[in-house]
Amino acid sequence: MTMIDKKPITILAIESSCDETAAAILSWDGEKTGLPKTKTLSSVIRSQIKLHSKMGGVVPEVAARAHVKNILPVVQKTINDSRLTINDINYIAVTAGPGLIPSLIVGVEFAKALALATGKKMVPINHLEGHLYSPFGQLPTTHHPLPTSLFPMISLIVSGGHTILTLMESEKKYRVLGQTVDDAAGEAFDKVAKLLGLPYPGGPEVSRLAEKGRPSIDFPRPMINSKDFNFSFAGLKTAVLYYIRAKGQGLSAKEKQLSPIRLALSAKADICSSFQQAAVDVLVAKTTRATKKFKAKAISLSGGVSANASLRSALRKKCADLGLRFFAPSLKLSTDNAEMIGLAAIFKLRGGYKPVKFNKVKADPNLQL
Ligand code: KG4
Ligand code: ZN
Repeated sequence: MTMIDKKPITILAIESSCDETAAAILSWDGEKTGLPKTKTLSSVIRSQIKLHSKMGGVVPEVAARAHVKNILPVVQKTINDSRLTINDINYIAVTAGPGLIPSLIVGVEFAKALALATGKKMVPINHLEGHLYSPFGQLPTTHHPLPTSLFPMISLIVSGGHTILTLMESEKKYRVLGQTVDDAAGEAFDKVAKLLGLPYPGGPEVSRLAEKGRPSIDFPRPMINSKDFNFSFAGLKTAVLYYIRAKGQGLSAKEKQLSPIRLALSAKADICSSFQQAAVDVLVAKTTRATKKFKAKAISLSGGVSANASLRSALRKKCADLGLRFFAPSLKLSTDNAEMIGLAAIFKLRGGYKPVKFNKVKADPNLQL
């Protein structure tokens, strides 16, 4: 066992890239034991679901105003819950991007002001890197470094804004193999939910209803056989739209307008189940192809859509069949949270990243992985 000569780290992490205002305090027990572990001391998420459900989606200006209102109480509660004081914290991590710029700015500027006032250094984090490391939060593998026997690893990030397949060659080194050419996987779930008149956010609703239905409709599996590692979900969503429209034939114009909401619950459940099956088939097929091509030893899954039970179990089963390790975050680390931002910061710091002064940190809505 290698002893690690790094000092313990206590980090405050802030996340505000979309519609959750979140903060967390994590510690990494650098020196105290031979098997240092990452611990979450506190984690607070203030969701804006109620606010945005009226509009059927996130309105950036409304989201930013809610972040402004929530950020101070959220950070204060996080510090109180941890039973530490601000003086016990070494670094401030913050999501720098990608995301909605009005939302990002609130978290980034708040974190910078706190860093300026307290003289602490900062660790800007790519939100997608937060998702990427989220499966390794509470595992014994949080030893430094992650065992080399897990690499190469194929990592699938599926969220509301992204669908990215990456090849992790080591804990630190990864590269993007492919991504969606149109809608993200989560976006497709949300749009299908809207077509069916289900409440926002749609992903969990579609997934809940899918449990009650049968995958009896043969929706397309776009790009399932393409040689690259890109995805496309717009065509699948359109196929669902046409199917719903066709179901509405024979209705009056007014009824047609209302047709999604008028479909029987069992018909909606079958649509959800069939759509979900098509999306899962494509995600699993592409991930499996990458796994074989790069002779991967493990698959990891993250992002909001990783909360989907059907996707999780399909990938877990694939791993069992292929004799690979499978990693996915706990459900509370699947959708947006600050714990994963703190975790990514700890991974970066223990990998040698030098924290920066507050004036080097800038929100970037288009930050790439
Ligand atoms: O990672 P996340 O919280 O935010 C982004 O970074 O985008 O992902 C949110 C996405 C939404 O599209 C939401 O509908 C989807 O994750 N989602 C799900 C489920 N839970 C959340 N999609 C399918 N099944 C679920 N159970
Ligand atoms: Zn996210």
